[in-house]
Amino acid sequence: MKRIKHEPSVAVCPGSFDPVTYGHLDIITRASEVFDKVIVAVLNNMSKQPLFSVQERMALLQDVTRDIKNVEIDHFDDLLVNYMMEKKAHVIVKGLRAVSDFEYELQMASVNRKLNEQIETFFMMSSNQYSYLSSSVVKQVARFGGPVGDLVPETVEEALRRKYVEIGRG
Ligand code: PNS
Repeated sequence: MKRIKHEPSVAVCPGSFDPVTYGHLDIITRASEVFDKVIVAVLNNMSKQPLFSVQERMALLQDVTRDIKNVEIDHFDDLLVNYMMEKKAHVIVKGLRAVSDFEYELQMASVNRKLNEQIETFFMMSSNQYSYLSSSVVKQVARFGGPVGDLVPETVEEALRRKYVEIGRG
């Protein structure tokens, strides 16, 4: 499914987004400036124990990307390449933070290419100020009531606060 030149370029930013951070938002925003349409696709991963439901993660993503007109929020629970065929998307966009991300991302990109060689993975280097940032780090800090205002948008900060009040520190 090679893209015909006059067709819009559709990229997918896949991930768990549990929850979305400023690091994700940086990559989504920059991707939206390169591609005609960016679909942020939340994986409904049964094997992980997420803090937020898929619906909650999507609602937070909707809120923080509301000003970016060519971004769409969706979810998937299939192989990524199958989901992409369904969406007529050609490019996977991933952020790379540090060398430690490289091995895992190389593996994923290689498997996806093996599964469907028409789909390309593009990597963007995370902006320096977010090179240490991950959803896991945010959750660790928020769980103990630490400040996460520099790490996630305000709606996400509030959602984290509410969630830990609701479920306790676990
Ligand atoms: O934010 P994450 O958890 O690092 O995102 C990982 C994600 C969702 C990109 C990856 O797990 C994925 O694409 N899963 C879907 C299943 C799939 O297609 N696997 C094939 C590559 S091994």
